[in-house]
Amino acid sequence: MTSSRATSSIKLSDGTSIPQLGFGTFQVPPADAVETVGAALDVGFRHIDTAQGYKNEAEVGEAIANSGIARDEIYVTSKLTNSMHARDDVMRSFDETLAKLRLDKLDLFLIHWPLPTRYDGDFVSTWRAMLELVEDGRLTSAGVSNFEPAHLTKIIDETGATPVVNQIEAHPYFHNNAARQASHDQAIAVEAWGPLARGEALDDPIVKAIATETDRAASQVVLRWHVQRGDIIFPKSMHRERMAENLAIFDFELSDDQIARIDTLDRGEDGRQGPNPNTFDAL
Ligand SMILES: NC(=O)c1ccc[n+]([C@@H]2O[C@H](COP(=O)([O-])OP(=O)(O)OC[C@H]3O[C@@H](n4cnc5c(N)ncnc54)[C@H](OP(=O)(O)O)[C@@H]3O)[C@@H](O)[C@H]2O)c1
Repeated sequence: MTSSRATSSIKLSDGTSIPQLGFGTFQVPPADAVETVGAALDVGFRHIDTAQGYKNEAEVGEAIANSGIARDEIYVTSKLTNSMHARDDVMRSFDETLAKLRLDKLDLFLIHWPLPTRYDGDFVSTWRAMLELVEDGRLTSAGVSNFEPAHLTKIIDETGATPVVNQIEAHPYFHNNAARQASHDQAIAVEAWGPLARGEALDDPIVKAIATETDRAASQVVLRWHVQRGDIIFPKSMHRERMAENLAIFDFELSDDQIARIDTLDRGEDGRQGPNPNTFDAL
């Protein structure tokens, strides 16, 4: 079965475009990843988000190769893992990423975490190495993830180069407005990770009420809220029927009132589910 594909794309500041909706692969175990990512491509996803740290790049690459879909129809993102921030490690690990994904060129590569308390606080050198990959022609676009406003300011001020995206935790319980606004102020597109609050938002009474009003699944309501905010999202699911559900969000709209009701769910910092980027230091 191949259902209708995501129809929306976002223009990035370097002139490229990214599908607004993709498929996330965090916690897709390597043993299941060929089949799971294969199902996501078959259902219609054309944007895959992986990372060196997810340990499934090789399986993502195998699924893409098996799919027979033309390379230029699939947008692939990976992320630099925390132990690889030194310039030569960026270069070497990026080569491994390309080999595992079986690609000559990657669409988007992100610094996964800024790690301001590691590497003597120097994530600017790491950012310069990412720019080198673009100059080399092996990477189309360079971006960052989990960068707080001060981190963005530092890399932009010191290099004059702006990341095309900032991938940050964002969902109905944690709008992450400061990082989101700082990104928008620099024309950096926001990618919202954990868009379903890892599934927690699907049981919310307000979300469930709007799902009933719109005759849609709770997941579709939450994902549609993200889309109408203009963010890029890539929900993860191990289940084919949920993948199809998550993909079918471009044929309905939430009203201003429905958006406003979901907006009331923001818990500020208390709603954060992942680590705080200012203190996260796992290598
Ligand atoms: N940059 C970063 O630091 C960072 C951090 C975390 C995540 N990410 C990226 O963002 C992606 C998405 O975030 P996430 O995977 O943490 O969380 P998520 O997409 O918000 O939620 C995934 C959870 O929701 C469930 N789910 C998905 N679709 C559903 C549906 N239609 N109905 C019911 N339940 C559904 C999944 O269960 P099943 O799998 O059992 O269906 C899974 O438990 C990741 O996969 C990764 O690519 C990036």
